[in-house]
Amino acid sequence: MVDFSEKNFFEGKDFESSPFRALMPEFYPPEYQEYIRQETALLKEKVVGAKRILEAGIGIGRLVPELAPLVGEFVGVDKARRMLEESKKVAASFQNVKIEEMNLEELSKFFSEKYFDFSLCVWNTLGNVASEVTVLQELGKITEKSVFITTYLKGTLEHRKNWYKTVGVEISDEDETNEIFYSKSGLKSKSFSPEDMQQLAQEAGMDVVDSKILNEVMLWTELRSLK
Ligand SMILES: C[S@@+](CC[C@H](N)C(=O)[O-])C[C@H]1O[C@@H](n2cnc3c(N)ncnc32)[C@H](O)[C@@H]1O
Repeated sequence: MVDFSEKNFFEGKDFESSPFRALMPEFYPPEYQEYIRQETALLKEKVVGAKRILEAGIGIGRLVPELAPLVGEFVGVDKARRMLEESKKVAASFQNVKIEEMNLEELSKFFSEKYFDFSLCVWNTLGNVASEVTVLQELGKITEKSVFITTYLKGTLEHRKNWYKTVGVEISDEDETNEIFYSKSGLKSKSFSPEDMQQLAQEAGMDVVDSKILNEVMLWTELRSLK
């Protein structure tokens, strides 16, 4: 029986001491490499000149070299030990980057209201959390302007299966109706339609200010808190 609270996947169970291929675009099928290119360009355009930004679920710090040079301060948070270790190594080359251990469901305990200009929660991090609404509410509280989210787009099951196979993640179960995958190592990965995101935003007290599909496989949503 897999213990989903353990999140062994992000501790590296599938890759052990090898590189964490699931967060390294060079190991992806071409359509996901292109999604990453489009997302990176969009994020750069949106955050340039910001005083403070947050990456919720920093992973291995993939976006640190891309975004840190464009902003005053870049804070990355995560709860997986391996992710914190790897992202701290990347952050060490930047004076304006801080990495903190934190649960995304408790962000407002650690940051004051509207502390960040922008927050990002990308590459389907929202599809891995226990409560999407709680995470959106927390992001809304601590973010002055926009929250940028990217999630797997519903209707892309075959692409996703190919992605898991290509990077080497062993799928133990799939809920085809709701398009949720479960890995042997405890990863739970959901997917979303634009209507799902609209519903979550409403429940979290947020407005969807932009929604678009990136390279036919991912959904980009820009949200703002109504408060
Ligand atoms: C799919 S990865 C994305 C990593 C990074 N944002 C990127 O784009 O490369 C999701 C990350 O969020 C972290 N994460 C998931 N749920 C979390 C939670 N409740 N609190 C803190 N971090 C969480 C995972 O440990 C992992 O590093």
